[in-house]
Amino acid sequence: MIETRRLILRRMTMADLDGLLRIFSDPKVMESFGGVLFDRSKMEQWIQRNLDHQDQYRYGLFSVILKTNAELVGDCGLEHMEVDGSAEVEIGYDFSSSYWGRGLATEAAMAVRDYAFGQLGLPRLISLIRIHNRAIDASGGEDRYGEGEGVGAG
Ligand SMILES: CC(C)(COP(=O)(O)OP(=O)(O)OC[C@H]1O[C@@H](n2cnc3c(N)ncnc32)[C@H](O)[C@@H]1OP(=O)(O)O)[C@@H](O)C(=O)NCCC(=O)NCCS
Repeated sequence: MIETRRLILRRMTMADLDGLLRIFSDPKVMESFGGVLFDRSKMEQWIQRNLDHQDQYRYGLFSVILKTNAELVGDCGLEHMEVDGSAEVEIGYDFSSSYWGRGLATEAAMAVRDYAFGQLGLPRLISLIRIHNRAIDASGGEDRYGEGEGVGAG
């Protein structure tokens, strides 16, 4: 568990399904992922994948709880991935649109960054950003990704 000024980041469980589904069935949130909203079964599969990932790699996405009202307001954490053939650990986050713009993603991501470098002793983190490039979209090209060390929300 990680505690920040306003947030608790704790291990995700299947009991978080309703809270996460509120976020992943919100069109504003899902606009970033092609606009397809999650239903219950898709949410369950997504959580199960994260739980399996957590068992395999000893890190994963935390559920993020707002201290003032104990509401699940997002997820934030680490995911193993292959980028251009090399193993990387990505820091990622999704937050309830009702809470956007208050610095919560930044607060959570900074705490996860410190946990990754400190407690887990990881040497490096990346953050992938999908670049919406109209010219590439129009030409039927691929999504492009930027890479960097350090974190940012947005
Ligand atoms: C991206 C997301 C997590 C940001 O959450 P948040 O709690 O509002 O973020 P913060 O308040 O910490 O803002 C962080 C920075 O991003 C900027 N930002 C936040 N949302 C933005 C948006 N939709 N467009 C442009 N900038 C944005 C903020 O202005 C802030 O910049 P600043 O520090 O220079 O002021 C949230 O909008 C979200 O869940 N979006 C949908 C899912 C998603 O895109 N996840 C990330 C991709 S994996």
